[in-house]
Amino acid sequence: MQRQRVNVTVTGAGGNIGYALMFRIASGQLLGPDVPVALRLLEIPSGLRAAEGSAFELQDSAFPLLREVLVTDDPVQAFDGANVAILVGSRPRGPGQQRADLLEGNARIFGPQGAAINAGAADDIRVVVVGNPANTNALVTASHAPDVPADRFTALTRLDHNRAVAQLAAHLSVPVTSVRGVAIWGNHSALQYPDVSHATIDGRPVRELVDEAWLVNEFIPRVANRGAEIIAVRGASSMGSAASATVDHVYDWVNGTGHDWTSAGVFSDGSYGVPAGLVSSYPVRSLGGRWAIEPGLAVDDFSRARINTSVAELQAERAAVSALGLLGPRESA
Ligand code: NAD
Ligand code: LMR
Repeated sequence: MQRQRVNVTVTGAGGNIGYALMFRIASGQLLGPDVPVALRLLEIPSGLRAAEGSAFELQDSAFPLLREVLVTDDPVQAFDGANVAILVGSRPRGPGQQRADLLEGNARIFGPQGAAINAGAADDIRVVVVGNPANTNALVTASHAPDVPADRFTALTRLDHNRAVAQLAAHLSVPVTSVRGVAIWGNHSALQYPDVSHATIDGRPVRELVDEAWLVNEFIPRVANRGAEIIAVRGASSMGSAASATVDHVYDWVNGTGHDWTSAGVFSDGSYGVPAGLVSSYPVRSLGGRWAIEPGLAVDDFSRARINTSVAELQAERAAVSALGLLGPRESA
């Protein structure tokens, strides 16, 4: 028997990630093969034609689960009754830029969207922010939605997690399914900390299988700078892998992670010394439809220093959006 319809809002639907994402959502990969979906595609006026063209293609795909596609430039309409909101719409960086360079231009997109979510989204709304800088944009969104529980706002770091898993698997010539226990801490930026302290390959600790020098000089910078590497090689920021990680994030959030943790940017509750109120990546499990930070992991001095560096960057980003007046009533309350 089919389940109740889920309303999924995608912002930036006329852009690259939006295009890669919508076919996977409509085919049932975001929520499950028995869950009907209604898509609401939000764009700014200059992106509406592209989104409308994509809506035609969705129709032409005759997806059995797709009940409705709405294309709009009105955030109030787009988020009305939304159960899942995927906030992609924003500018990507170009060669030589850091994601934080996007802060001033992109962060102001997210306040009005947070307010529209606050006003009209469904009670079970789940939000994932993809647009960069994702952690701080998630903070801005949530700050404008004071009536929605903070744990419904997340930032995408699953792409970093997937990259870390894939780099380990390639280095050790094992399938990605052999890799468990990787974690991404902190910001979705070049200062993120991809952590293998607790990772295993077919049950054997990664630390026993790889050189410290490889970890420090190759693995960590490779994962942390993979977005820039894609931009340099491909000429545009990641699209298919970003959409795929977004699908993984929402699927696991809704359906559960089972016995493994993954990584997601969630509001800190002070765990692991990350100040409460920042949106930081953590090792997380989804249980009963809610993300829970994995408790009780040992953090050695090396990891502590890396986490602290990433968190300092998150604090600086938060101070920057605060100085720009972009934080809403939740933060100033
Ligand atoms: P893109 O330029 O192809 O598409 C962005 C779309 O957003 C455009 O169509 C634009 O019209 C639209 N848009 C802009 N402002 C909007 C608004 N206020 N409301 C609705 N739509 C709006 O860019 P892309 O490649 O799809 O990347 C989108 C964002 O995702 C960028 O910020 C990029 O850096 C980020 N990104 C994040 C990750 C991650 O892992 N967190 C991965 C890849 C890309
Ligand atoms: C990525 O990690 O691929 C995205 O955040 C895009 C970027 O700017 O690196």
